[in-house]
Amino acid sequence: MNHKDLREQNRLSWNAVAGAHDTHRGDLAGFLREGGSTLFPEELALLGDIRGKRLAHLQCNCGGDSLSLALLGATVTGVDISDEAISSARELSSKTGIPAEFVRADVYDWLAATARDGRRFDAVFSSYGVVCWLPDLSSWAGGIAAALRPGGRFVLVDFHPVAQMFDERWNLSGSYPSGGEPRLLEEGVGDYVGESGGGLTPAGFVKGVRDFENPHHCHLFRWGLGEVVTALTGAGLRVIALKEYPYSNGERHFGGMRELPGRRMAPPQEVPAVPLMYGISAERP
Ligand SMILES: C[S@@+](CC[C@H](N)C(=O)[O-])C[C@H]1O[C@@H](n2cnc3c(N)ncnc32)[C@H](O)[C@@H]1O
Repeated sequence: MNHKDLREQNRLSWNAVAGAHDTHRGDLAGFLREGGSTLFPEELALLGDIRGKRLAHLQCNCGGDSLSLALLGATVTGVDISDEAISSARELSSKTGIPAEFVRADVYDWLAATARDGRRFDAVFSSYGVVCWLPDLSSWAGGIAAALRPGGRFVLVDFHPVAQMFDERWNLSGSYPSGGEPRLLEEGVGDYVGESGGGLTPAGFVKGVRDFENPHHCHLFRWGLGEVVTALTGAGLRVIALKEYPYSNGERHFGGMRELPGRRMAPPQEVPAVPLMYGISAERP
């Protein structure tokens, strides 16, 4: 299968799981309508003031973060490959009355079309489980650089590749990711929102769908942090900040995670600190 076919397979897997995720989110529309936010302090700090800015949110999933960004005064375009995630995002926008444009597209196609049309943004944002779906970092980074106006900023917050080296019980079990090595996940995208037990549902947690099984497998790509940074700098972006955090926001990746205030998940006390998340802000000169 070529990369495009792998991404289309991923689209099926994401389509299958989107509805299950939504069953856990509680009254997200009401929460946002009352000014609630699904964003975490890490991305807010890296983004800075986004009032009045044109912002592209790549791999936006069901749009909770996109609408939270719009509430901060940005004009938001959310992009995602999943038909179901985008239709849920559009529904959320109409239920909340918070305006945002949502585009169903493969991020590579959308970046290419954006460059072709000469459309420019003040900021591009992507977060939490995004790099692992990208088979080609240099064309992704090049597309982001082209979508930014000079002085515009890209912000990425994602789970740290080091976290992929441990099994459920915190045993060192795998090599550090590199080279975009493909990994087939037979079980497809799982119900990590349900498994987070409230970590990913600031509007309240609903048990919702149980024992979800995804009929569609998916393909992940394993990249190291150095490769992500090299792709961004190779595309001409200037890295302003590269942060590493010894906790992960929202998601419980491993057994025995301790929940710290602010829905931060940290390893059990006896496990030495390792970076579980990183954040990058980079500017187009
Ligand atoms: C883990 S989610 C990102 C979480 C998101 N930040 C949120 O707020 O929920 C990953 C998203 O990437 C999307 N995705 C995967 N491959 C993609 C591609 N090639 N182009 C666009 N979106 C893609 C999936 O549909 C999914 O919504």
